[in-house]
Amino acid sequence: MKITILAGDGIGIEVTRQAVRILSEVAKFYQIIVEFDEQLIGGAAIREKGSPFPEETRRACLKADAVLLGAVGDPEFDDLLPEQRPEIGLLKLRQSLGGFANLRPAAAIPSLIESSPLRAEVFEGTDLLIVRELLGGLYFGQPRGFNADKTEAFNTMRYSVEEIERIALIAFESARSRRKKVTSVDKANVLETSRLWRETVTRVSEKYPDVELEHLFVDACAMHLVTNPSRFDVILTENLFGDILSDEAAVLTGSLGMLASATIGGKIDLYEPVHGSAPDIAGQDIANPLGAIASVAMLLQHTAKHEHAAEAVETAIKNVLEAGYRTADIARGNYQNVVSTSEMGDLMVQYALEAANISYAFHSV
Ligand code: IPM
Ligand code: MN
Repeated sequence: MKITILAGDGIGIEVTRQAVRILSEVAKFYQIIVEFDEQLIGGAAIREKGSPFPEETRRACLKADAVLLGAVGDPEFDDLLPEQRPEIGLLKLRQSLGGFANLRPAAAIPSLIESSPLRAEVFEGTDLLIVRELLGGLYFGQPRGFNADKTEAFNTMRYSVEEIERIALIAFESARSRRKKVTSVDKANVLETSRLWRETVTRVSEKYPDVELEHLFVDACAMHLVTNPSRFDVILTENLFGDILSDEAAVLTGSLGMLASATIGGKIDLYEPVHGSAPDIAGQDIANPLGAIASVAMLLQHTAKHEHAAEAVETAIKNVLEAGYRTADIARGNYQNVVSTSEMGDLMVQYALEAANISYAFHSV
């Protein structure tokens, strides 16, 4: 596998370093040959190359089997126009790779249940997957811009039947390997794009009689996520709604730092933690690398198609938490076992290899 590494900005650099370590070690164990190529994106790329998504980075990504990204965003560039900011690097990357389906799983981890902002009895048993459309809607719709004297600004929310169909198919296929329920989220009481969304998703659902479909308005969905999150299986939604709901869903697990994402459906798959560059804690070796490491598990699953390797990483995350290790973001009160980013990386290498060895012994008997 050829993997292009885009650590990006802020804590992206620290967490990606640990994620790459785990990937190398687990790949070595399973004799998967991995070649890494590190490139610049975001603020780091603006500083060194004058562009948030340099041509060199684009070329390297298009040659890879998958891209592993850290995070993008740097307050140094807060005053720049949207089209010059670090974030545009990420949007251009997504567009170049072509992945339109952003998968963001969020599940209750029993050993972390006390870290959830929800009461344990509300959050317990939650296991959901947000399927977020990633290349359409307000993020990319034209026309967009300001009027001449900047007294007005506008963006366009636009969706075609084809764009809705292809993301709906991914949601229904995902639901088939889960609990067979899709909640399609829209604002069909107000928006035309949502009317089309609802009609199209309903039509696609006819090919999946074994999967239950429900429709929810986005405001109601936001409410159900905090009052009854375990009612959800797959949440299918458009780009901006998915952006907002996935932060909400992620933080229910205890920390944004825990969550991973995969972007599939295009030429090249993209893996990134859901969290951002967190400039306030960058460079202090205290960020949680588990979201980045969980993204490695998704890479091993979807791109490498290596079930055992993916499982070893997932089991290791579960075990390291059960053993009581916590980074600061998920440690409550005056917790004793607080570890740094790099210590969590050390532990994860050890636990992943242990899980791999156990599953290896198990599968060879
Ligand atoms: C995310 C981020 C990005 C998005 C930003 C950094 C452009 O918030 O991946 O959720 O809005 O998609
Ligand atoms: Mn977001």
